[in-house]
Amino acid sequence: MTDQAPAAESDIPGKPTSASRTTLSHIMTHNDTNLLGTVHGGVIMKLVDDAAGAVAGRHSGGPAVTASMDEMVFLEPVRVGDLVHVKAQVNWTGRTSMEVGVRVLAERWNESNPATQVGSAYLVFAAVDADGKPRAVPPVIPETEKDKRRNQEAQIRRTHRLARRRAIMELREKRAAEGFED
Ligand SMILES: CC(C)(COP(=O)(O)OP(=O)(O)OC[C@H]1O[C@@H](n2cnc3c(N)ncnc32)[C@H](O)[C@@H]1OP(=O)(O)O)[C@@H](O)C(=O)NCCC(=O)NCCS
Repeated sequence: MTDQAPAAESDIPGKPTSASRTTLSHIMTHNDTNLLGTVHGGVIMKLVDDAAGAVAGRHSGGPAVTASMDEMVFLEPVRVGDLVHVKAQVNWTGRTSMEVGVRVLAERWNESNPATQVGSAYLVFAAVDADGKPRAVPPVIPETEKDKRRNQEAQIRRTHRLARRRAIMELREKRAAEGFED
């Protein structure tokens, strides 16, 4: 993972956020439950990765792989019979990577009450070529004030991801230089 050139330096035409925004909907069944009888977190994470992957593929115009998933938050349990909506959009783009923000909402499949938010996550996808090598992506063009806020927040997360990774690598190198083995 390298600190690449910012999206603004890309010569690929930008794409608006709305061009790739996607919602994936799924009714939860007994196959999706954990030992408590509520929906297994991993089932939700798979839907989150699927929806985010569709968005990343649409935005980048080709294959994209999950590089990281962070801040996966489960706010409320999801139950059998819930209609789950997974809403995803590109928040930020780098040179070859994209941060996709995902919100998970649930509603009873047979009631008309509004859906409630049950989770959220941020995923980084890298667009790749046929050899699996990172390829450049179009810069995302945030359209609404909400898109702009999400873009700014994504830049903060990006800075923190890079700083955390750098700090850990430096610590490991220091420990190795001091002769510690682990
Ligand atoms: C993601 C992957 C393509 C990155 O390859 P790499 O050789 O490290 O390439 P780079 O260092 O140039 O990284 C490419 C981009 O991804 C970003 N990236 C890589 N690893 C990342 C991580 N852990 N978190 C966030 N961003 C990451 C880099 O910052 C870079 O973004 P930028 O070009 O916008 O600045 C590679 O690690 C890979 O193929 N991983 C497996 C992906 C996969 O199979 N996912 C499904 C899991 S089953």
